[in-house]
Amino acid sequence: MACLWTGAGRQPNEMGSGVGAYMECADNLLYMKDLPSESMKLIVTSPPYNIGKVYERRRSLGSYLKSQALVIAECVRLLDPQGSLCWQVGNHITSDGEVVPLDIILYQHFKDHGLHLRNRIVWHFEHGLHCSKRYSGRYETVLWFTKSKNYTFNLDPVRVPSKYPGKRYFKGPRVGELSCNPLGKNPGDLWIIPNVKNNHVEKTQHPCQFPVELVERLVLSMTNEGDSVFDPYMGVGSSVVAALMHGRAGYGCDTVQEYVDIAWERVRSLQRGELRTRPMGKPVYDPSRPNGGH
Ligand SMILES: C[S@@+](CC[C@H](N)C(=O)[O-])C[C@H]1O[C@@H](n2cnc3c(N)ncnc32)[C@H](O)[C@@H]1O
Repeated sequence: MACLWTGAGRQPNEMGSGVGAYMECADNLLYMKDLPSESMKLIVTSPPYNIGKVYERRRSLGSYLKSQALVIAECVRLLDPQGSLCWQVGNHITSDGEVVPLDIILYQHFKDHGLHLRNRIVWHFEHGLHCSKRYSGRYETVLWFTKSKNYTFNLDPVRVPSKYPGKRYFKGPRVGELSCNPLGKNPGDLWIIPNVKNNHVEKTQHPCQFPVELVERLVLSMTNEGDSVFDPYMGVGSSVVAALMHGRAGYGCDTVQEYVDIAWERVRSLQRGELRTRPMGKPVYDPSRPNGGH
C-alpha cells in the first residue's frame, strides 16, 4: 500500500503516533480485506447515492442496499471498539422523481451490527439544484454510530463561540460567575457549512467533494492524535487531508484513478504547506454585510 508522510510501510495498528496517508485506486471491499480488524478509530464516508453521477451506475434500490450492507459490515469489522462510524448521505431520487432518504433506509443496516446512534447531524448548505416540482434540497445528514458505550468524544477542540460569552449566573450559589464555558459551546447537531461548489477554495474535478472542515470536526472530536481515519469512498481524499491536518493517519480508496491522483496531489500540497482549505469556523458569506461578513 502506497504511503506518503511518515510511518511508511507499517500496518495501521503498528503505527503508534506516526501518521501517514495510505491511499489506493481500489474497490473498497478489496482494499479493506487487507486491513486488520479494529484498526480504525474513525470511519467517515459519503457513498454514492445511486443517482447516476459520473462515478456510479444507477441500479435497483435493492441491489444498491445489498452492496452498502457488504461495505458497512466490513467497516464494522475494521472499527476500533471505542471508534466511530459516520455515514454522510442525502437522498436517492427514483426514476419517477420520488425522494428516498438514504439515512432512513440505511439505519437498520447499522443497527443489525449492534451499533449505537449518537447523533443524526443535519448538514445545511445553500447551494445546489433548483427544483421546480418540490422544494430544493438544502441539507444532508451524517449518521454517527459508535461500537460501544465507551467511545472517544472530545468536545473542547470543536467548541464554537458562545452566543453570550459574558453571561453570568444572576442567582444561586454561583451568582456572578460566568455561566457558560469560556472555551465556547457545543456546536449542536445542525451544522451550517458551505458545500463545495465552483467558487469554493477546495473545488477539484470531483462533482461531490466533502468540505474538509466538515470532516475536521469529526476527526477532532472522535479521534486522538496518532489514531487512524478511513474513508472507503474517499473521492479526492478530503477525509485523508482532514486526518493529516490534525496528526492522524489517513486511509482511503476510490475506484477512479483520476480522483486518487488528485487526492495524492492534495496530500503533497498539504505536506508543502500549500493546500488551501476553508478554515473551520469561518462565518458563512452573508451578502447583506460589508465584505460578506468576513
Ligand atoms: C460521494 S463521492 C465521495 C467524495 C469524497 N467524500 C470527497 O470528498 O472527495 C463517492 C465516491 O465513491 C467512489 N466509489 C464508488 N464505488 C466505489 C467502490 N466500490 N469502492 C471505492 N470507491 C467507490 C466514487 O468514485 C466516488 O468518488
